[in-house]
Amino acid sequence: MVRPKSKSPRDSFANVRLTAEERMEIEVTARSLNLKSISEYVRHLHKFHTRNIDQNRAFYEVAPEAMYSADRLRLFHKTNLGQIYLGDSLDFLHSRSSEKSIDLIMTSPPFGLVRKKTYGNEDAEEYCNWFRPFAEGFRRVLKDNGSLVIDIGGAWKPGMPTRSLYHFELLIMLCNEYGFHLCQEHFWWNPSKLPTPAEWVNVRRVRVKDAVNCVWWLSPTPWPKASNRRILAPYSEAMLDLLKNGYTAKLRPSGHDISDKFQRNNGGAVPPNLLAVANTESNGRYQDYCRKNDLEIHPARFPAKLPEYFIKMLTNSGDTILDPFGGSCVTGMVAENLRRKWICIELSESYLRGALGRFQGPPANGAVEKSVQYAINIPCALPIDEATIPLSEDGGKTRPATQSKELAPRTRKATALWSERP
Ligand SMILES: C[S@@+](CC[C@H](N)C(=O)[O-])C[C@H]1O[C@@H](n2cnc3c(N)ncnc32)[C@H](O)[C@@H]1O
Repeated sequence: MVRPKSKSPRDSFANVRLTAEERMEIEVTARSLNLKSISEYVRHLHKFHTRNIDQNRAFYEVAPEAMYSADRLRLFHKTNLGQIYLGDSLDFLHSRSSEKSIDLIMTSPPFGLVRKKTYGNEDAEEYCNWFRPFAEGFRRVLKDNGSLVIDIGGAWKPGMPTRSLYHFELLIMLCNEYGFHLCQEHFWWNPSKLPTPAEWVNVRRVRVKDAVNCVWWLSPTPWPKASNRRILAPYSEAMLDLLKNGYTAKLRPSGHDISDKFQRNNGGAVPPNLLAVANTESNGRYQDYCRKNDLEIHPARFPAKLPEYFIKMLTNSGDTILDPFGGSCVTGMVAENLRRKWICIELSESYLRGALGRFQGPPANGAVEKSVQYAINIPCALPIDEATIPLSEDGGKTRPATQSKELAPRTRKATALWSERP
């Protein structure tokens, strides 16, 4: 049937000048509201501001079934064990996936939609509100003994030497409002991270290098399946020596009774919740593929070791892993190598075109690396003369006169949609 002609056709254009970052940010927010284009978003904002509060509420109160549709997802690529979808993961979480079908959600969402002009807690509140429909979807699709692992970086408040609370607020919201349990927080330490933000660290010298990401391991019940035996680290030289030459059981200065059970070789050491993984990979199959095909390399990838650690500890071969913020599909690649079923969903087609490079030819060596050790030097180990190093009494408010102005704009980087990783 021929569609009747619209009485008010939308054929009037308004030019809005945006940076690529602003455009991406608006598109992500629009999609999270289930709006298909920037035009729809502008109309939505207009309605929002012109209706009264009650009407606004009605505007939002749409049944989830009506808001999400699996038809909008496009199967982009398939492997033996996995599927990559192009589209909004909310459509997957609320309509494509069956309830309680996922063993592990391993993901890294866009970090802090920290606004350039916010100085209070609005950024955190805004982030939590953006996350709510995802949280609901995660609860819907996760099995009771499954896990949700979220890698999330902190953010500096724009122009301030203080931090946003958004990732802590997110954690509290997930536990208090969506009934998740915090199994254990982990910290991903990137030993190769640059000392940023330079303004506070190198110029005004009032903060230290920000080198860890928080990784929240949560689950719908306090008892997700898990085994730390799957993720053992090599024993230290000292421990190997102890296992070889024995140990005299005695009371430690801390009062701990070190019995002879410490002499048992368990095949490796239980690692701490500090995961030392450098993110220095600049050459590899994925990057080569992107460069060769003139595709954008994803700026915020996590290293394969991160999903490898949680996939091994929390899932069995044949289990299903979901990454709803798929990016360049590192999670998919690792899951495929470890013989797990997997699903990655990503909004940007250009990132997915690059991700295809991970699945060409025989499995990439993404999940098996040789053992590396990093040393952390003890702080305060250098002799200093306090009399020659005054504290910054105004907390760094005034810039040292000797420093060049050129370094200042670098602190603005904290306002990116997601933090780029070096
Ligand atoms: C921090 S990146 C993830 C990077 C990924 N872990 C990797 O290592 O390549 C977050 C990704 O989420 C995507 N994204 C944001 N909102 C989304 C949504 N509603 N559905 C699917 N993908 C989304 C962004 O386009 C971005 O690529």
